[in-house]
Amino acid sequence: MAKTKSVFVCSQCGNDSPKWLGKCPVCGEWNTYVEEFISKQSLSKESSNLIGFTQQQSKPILLKEVNAGEEIRIDTGDQELNRVLGGGLVPGSLILIGGEPGIGKSTLVLQTVLKLDSFKILYVSGEESAKQLKLRAERLEKNNENLFIVCETNLEQIFTHITNIKPDLLIIDSIQTIYTERIESSPGSVSQVRECSVLLLKFAKESNTPTLLIGHINKEGTIAGPKVLEHIVDTVLQFEGDQHYMYRILRSMKNRFGSTSELGIYEMRRNGLREVNNPSEMLLTQNHEGLSGAAIAAAIEGIRPFLIETQSLVSTAAYGTPQRSATGFDIRRMNMLLAVLEKRAGFKLIQKDVFLNIAGGLRVSDPALDLAVISAILSSSLDIAIDREICLSGEVGLSGEIRPVNRIEQRILEAEKLGFKKILIPYNNLKGFDMKKTSIQIVTARKVEDAFRELFG
Ligand code: TYD
Ligand code: MG
Repeated sequence: MAKTKSVFVCSQCGNDSPKWLGKCPVCGEWNTYVEEFISKQSLSKESSNLIGFTQQQSKPILLKEVNAGEEIRIDTGDQELNRVLGGGLVPGSLILIGGEPGIGKSTLVLQTVLKLDSFKILYVSGEESAKQLKLRAERLEKNNENLFIVCETNLEQIFTHITNIKPDLLIIDSIQTIYTERIESSPGSVSQVRECSVLLLKFAKESNTPTLLIGHINKEGTIAGPKVLEHIVDTVLQFEGDQHYMYRILRSMKNRFGSTSELGIYEMRRNGLREVNNPSEMLLTQNHEGLSGAAIAAAIEGIRPFLIETQSLVSTAAYGTPQRSATGFDIRRMNMLLAVLEKRAGFKLIQKDVFLNIAGGLRVSDPALDLAVISAILSSSLDIAIDREICLSGEVGLSGEIRPVNRIEQRILEAEKLGFKKILIPYNNLKGFDMKKTSIQIVTARKVEDAFRELFG
């Protein structure tokens, strides 16, 4: 009989302590310690032997003798996913896909594996029944002859199925529902998540099978379970978006086999997720000709340029305290821009409600959006529409100066490609830029006042 002991584990960083602590000495978070029961056995070396893997003997070799070659990549058949993974799935890699419940993680993974006919796939579902999965597959209108489904949450049982089926690709939906018998704490607890992931990592590396874990995100927006989970896996992808909108973004937060600045964009449809190869289409479907409060920004997320609409509504505050609300944009940043507007353009925004919205429900963190945001607010406040043929790009500083942004060429070319006539950019971005290369009219501004003069006359 294995001896069990009780430990307190920090749910943020996974640090453990024999007694409860108010503040974690490692990550500095408060009130994160939870009691868990661990059987001693789990911490021992035999973990891996129990699941049928022999301990491989390691042997040091010279670095120069290591044959790296080109990393083999498995094409997932999904261009956006390939891009975020850095060119496809790497054999033996452990990938975590995190996201809020209902955002579409299971849909994304299922529709991808349904297309991979030439691979034997094992889909372990701890959340949905086989019938539910079948219904979903029917909804996605695809079928795969080589897809095995098992509804199981016991890791030892899962390893038995793996030994029998020998899949080329393993899916665990989700890591928080899986438990190993070697630990007494409940599924989803810090030590269960950690132990299960370590065992799955070992499986992935030793059998060279790519393994995809689906993980939930907790209230704070981090992947539930300890931070150590992120350290264990090779790649962390985050699936995000606003549930009330159709667009979803797949971001790479960590990638041992590629860049983390890649981004995948999808649209949730009735029959699954559609890859959005041209993100600017989100904006081009709308037509607000002659309406005030809208400005178009030439933005970049990761390394992908796209044009996105920012919308604002400024109205007289009905109550004492004016309302400030921003969707898809940092509210503190908006407040800073309002202060700049107040100081530099002399607008009394104190008694105004200000609402801001980024089209498509996307959260964009590119600082080059500032100029479009501040112009949209002013446009609504003045009730003067901004010409639809102009797009903007620039970061706004505290004294109202317009600061240069990165990758200006890409932004200009994207705006040109989409048929814009004019682009307003920071003055300091012009250095070294060959204007002759483009046919779009380039206007520069040093301060917000210059930009406003250009836009509103
Ligand atoms: P799901 O993949 O179950 O989310 P997660 O695994 O992240 O919890 O996605 C569920 C949502 O997606 C649900 O609200 C219905 C919607 N959906 C569609 O709009 N179209 C579809 O084809 C499918 C399968 C789901
Ligand atoms: Mg799911």
